[in-house]
Amino acid sequence: CNFLKEKSRKEILEILCGGLQREEYRGYDSAGLGVDGDKAGEIIYFKEVGKVAGLRKQIASSSVDFNKTFVSQVSIAHTRWATHGPPSTVNCHPLRSDLTSEFLVVHNGIVTNNAELRMVLQKRGYTFESETDTEAVAKLLKYVYDSTADKANLTFTQLVKTVLKELQGSFAFVIKSVHWPNEVVTARRGSPLLIGVKTDKKLKVDFVDVEFAGQDADNVKAENLQPTSPSSLLAPPSANPKVLRTQSRAFMSEDGLPQPIEFFVASDAAAIVEHTKRVLYLEDNDIAHIADGELHIHRLRGKDDQDQSPAQIASTRSIETLEIEIAAIMKGKFDHFMQKEIYEQPESVVNTMRGRVNFDTNQITLGGLRAYLPIIRRARRMVFIACGTSYHSCIATRAIFEELTEIPISVELASDFLDRKTPIFRDDVCVLLSQSGETADTILALRYCLERGALCVGVVNTVGSTLSRETHCGVHINAGPEIGVASTKAYTSQYTALLMMAIQLSEDRISLTARRNQIIAGLHEMPSQIKKVLELDSLIQQLAKTITGNKSLLLMGRGFQNATCLEGALKIKEISYMHSEGILAGELKHGPLALIDENMPVIIIMTQDSLYPKVQSALAQITARKAQPIILCNEDDEGIPNNAKTIRVPKSVDCLQGMLNIIPLQLLSYHLAVGQGYDVDFPRNLAKSVTTE
Ligand code: G6P
Repeated sequence: CNFLKEKSRKEILEILCGGLQREEYRGYDSAGLGVDGDKAGEIIYFKEVGKVAGLRKQIASSSVDFNKTFVSQVSIAHTRWATHGPPSTVNCHPLRSDLTSEFLVVHNGIVTNNAELRMVLQKRGYTFESETDTEAVAKLLKYVYDSTADKANLTFTQLVKTVLKELQGSFAFVIKSVHWPNEVVTARRGSPLLIGVKTDKKLKVDFVDVEFAGQDADNVKAENLQPTSPSSLLAPPSANPKVLRTQSRAFMSEDGLPQPIEFFVASDAAAIVEHTKRVLYLEDNDIAHIADGELHIHRLRGKDDQDQSPAQIASTRSIETLEIEIAAIMKGKFDHFMQKEIYEQPESVVNTMRGRVNFDTNQITLGGLRAYLPIIRRARRMVFIACGTSYHSCIATRAIFEELTEIPISVELASDFLDRKTPIFRDDVCVLLSQSGETADTILALRYCLERGALCVGVVNTVGSTLSRETHCGVHINAGPEIGVASTKAYTSQYTALLMMAIQLSEDRISLTARRNQIIAGLHEMPSQIKKVLELDSLIQQLAKTITGNKSLLLMGRGFQNATCLEGALKIKEISYMHSEGILAGELKHGPLALIDENMPVIIIMTQDSLYPKVQSALAQITARKAQPIILCNEDDEGIPNNAKTIRVPKSVDCLQGMLNIIPLQLLSYHLAVGQGYDVDFPRNLAKSVTTE
């Protein structure tokens, strides 16, 4: 939205499309936007299935007046990842309340009581155009608006608040309405949301006060509406609520005069960083209202707030200055983000260690954990919780964590952890890992652990993400923005961060000094060894050609390399769409051996560690069944049969070897996919950041 700052329709469309394109890295399937038309109250929509490039084409070939200017206006746009209803233009956001677009809504997340809401609204004569849960929200806004007698005293915020109280699930909304032109209301519960602020002058304030609803106003509503029952929807909001306003800070210049100002509402800073670096993160149950160049933040007294008095909720939202640079999220000389990120690993691993590892004194200091070390050391057990690749980094480091800390570790997939209602106690330490910091299952697991009083530690890449804000303490892995949907550099950085954490936790154990020093020396070598592995790229590309066309690929290993097999198989599935399975070599005889014949491609991971002889016997068992495996082994291993196809990597410390071994598999998945013309950065059906359960 811009206020007193003239913009042409062309500029507005460019801001929206540019922002959507920067969000595309999360992996979405359709995009849409709504901008003001030529007449008051008219909305022009553009919607397209597929990439934002398609949306841009549609806009370019349209006959809208690109030169029309607006002194103040609000426009909204969205990229969608289908949850309710398949990708189609009709399901694209913004969704409207009716044909005249009285209310326009874009939404991330899921409204879980969508079916009930639809039913109630359909009974009252509303017909739906789309299959989305979002449309029910647009229609509900209209319904509540229409049934309010005293519209003159109804504010946009008040209306949205009434509607939000009826919604279950997780969401971030941006809402625009013809009844409040040049105003926008945006709210979150469970999905990320931030507001960027851009002015030429210095801002008078660096925070915004939160306006808490007064007790009286809440009581009025509580009588009229039972929040979760759709049948109760229908009392209009109190016409004249007693809202307790704290002194709200408007954005005015230092001289107190209104100034041209722009606000950018987004779910991810990448979308807006080219316009402004000054951002304010909203909290769950915040409702922000932007009008006349002012931003006001209100609270929705939702379920989460029921037991809290306003004093327990932070009463301000500060305006932070972002540090990410646009250049950091560009592809540079590479064809794909995934390729760039694979090649960045020598530096990203250094960035994870930067300022934390002292290779002279063999000491590791993770500042974000320092104050909590005594509590963590006393833990009865540690529970690592994550999804996807982040989960594999936990498996990769579990053994060394247990060895160094002597604390029992359990490793959990966030969804399964929640499904089982896993018992968690006050003396547990829960470590939640997430590249994005926004994965819905991991965040729900975090809140579950917080409720049970466990200390929660975050290991996160994205600064400012929900996970990094809601955990008690943690470690940023500092791998830089990861854009390719298939995670690569985040894995090696998470691996490094967990190892550093284990070493720091064990520093009071004198008997383990030599082991710690050995690992720290191994970490020192790691960046140059990763560079060496990357030199195998053309060999791997050739190997990929020999594998392409097969239905399946097995990856086999044991011990520290179990995680390598699981993560390698995930990479191959994700982007080359080939079935692939990571097999623990110890389980070979209990089933997988039946799959082996001369046609089944197998990669066996046989780098030298204490389990080498056992993997050798697995190799013998599969070659006896005519398999012709590709052997991933150390450079100087002379024990490998002469005629075997090999991928040879430098030798590292046993617990670090997995960081080197995963890289040929990342490259293999990349070449398998590129060779078949697949979109490596945006694999079908997958999203970078899964913000729905
Ligand atoms: C999605 C991504 C994966 C990622 C997983 C967990 O499935 O496609 O690459 O590993 O989410 O994401 P997180 O951001 O929590 O690490």
